[in-house]
Amino acid sequence: MIVLGIESSCDETGLALYDGERQQLLADVLHSQIALHAQYGGVVPELASRDHIRRLVPLLEELLAKAGIRQGEGGPQVGAVAYTAGPGLMGALLTGACFAQGLALAWGVPAVPVHHMEGHLLAPMLETPRPSFPFVALLVSGGHTQLMQVEGVGRYQLLGESVDDAAGEAFDKAAKMMGLGYPGGPRVAEWAERGVPQRFRFPRPMVDRPGLEFSFSGLKTFCLTTLERLEREQGSVSEQDKADVAWAFQDAVVDTLFIKCKRALQQTGLKRLVMAGGVSANLALRSRLKEYALKQGIEVFYPRSAFCTDNGAMIALAGWYRLQQPGLKMSTEIVARARWPMADLQA
Ligand code: KG4
Ligand code: ZN
Repeated sequence: MIVLGIESSCDETGLALYDGERQQLLADVLHSQIALHAQYGGVVPELASRDHIRRLVPLLEELLAKAGIRQGEGGPQVGAVAYTAGPGLMGALLTGACFAQGLALAWGVPAVPVHHMEGHLLAPMLETPRPSFPFVALLVSGGHTQLMQVEGVGRYQLLGESVDDAAGEAFDKAAKMMGLGYPGGPRVAEWAERGVPQRFRFPRPMVDRPGLEFSFSGLKTFCLTTLERLEREQGSVSEQDKADVAWAFQDAVVDTLFIKCKRALQQTGLKRLVMAGGVSANLALRSRLKEYALKQGIEVFYPRSAFCTDNGAMIALAGWYRLQQPGLKMSTEIVARARWPMADLQA
């Protein structure tokens, strides 16, 4: 069965077609709203919703053409429409949910509401080799920082999560403080490349106590006080200062995530680690984990960068997995949940 996936939970409109039986992604398209929100330094929800509405139809046409499906033949060829039902921005979610449900009704196929983070979690399955269950998953996005023990689709045990800011959120806030632009993660990473290692040392929050919880809000404060101190002592903050702070900030986030991943692997005795979500595109994080994994005989999986951040492919894939679950109730209800704990998901 071919599943159409639609993602519109935040600032990316993503659509994709996934062939479940052949385990193959047929085509995917994406429109990023980065340029639209950049001038405001973050996502403006109302603008996001309006832009999704503008993009959905042309993107669907582009997607079908890319997959070689002729106009008007979407119905006969697509077997289900999966869409991000939450968590995310309510208005943005509603645009995709209504569009998906409308298409499903018109085509006479089921609509499948998908949990955005389950989409991220399963995204590494789009790659070869694909991870087999069970594994430890590190979910790091703009809204979530979680470690999970994953036994199968829908069988997720939360091992630990952030008690305050998500890792991506911390990157975004630090970038904003330094005036590096939006979204912050890739900007901080870019600046860090030019940074002098070890000039500054940021704390590693919550690593000296047991457990798998994270806290990132202190790093943001540390970033601010470092910049203020430089300003006071030198009269200004230079480009090099910013690069050095970016290096130290990234190093602290990466190190913290690394320490907790290591701990989760030791605690569970599992030998597979899956990373997903926007921050898993971070090259410093990837190389840190790969280096450790190589030494310890652990397999590490992550999606290609384009599928670390929001995309339609992960939603199509997660929708297909959900369709395989017995007892999945089909409904014409338009599901959109701004908040939706992953713990509410059923196997
Ligand atoms: O998964 P995602 O696209 O959206 C959410 O579900 O939140 O993640 C976006 C987050 C943003 O906070 C962004 O700054 C961060 O992922 N991010 C990165 C990188 N690329 C994106 N953080 C660090 N390094 C990157 N290369
Ligand atoms: Zn996301």
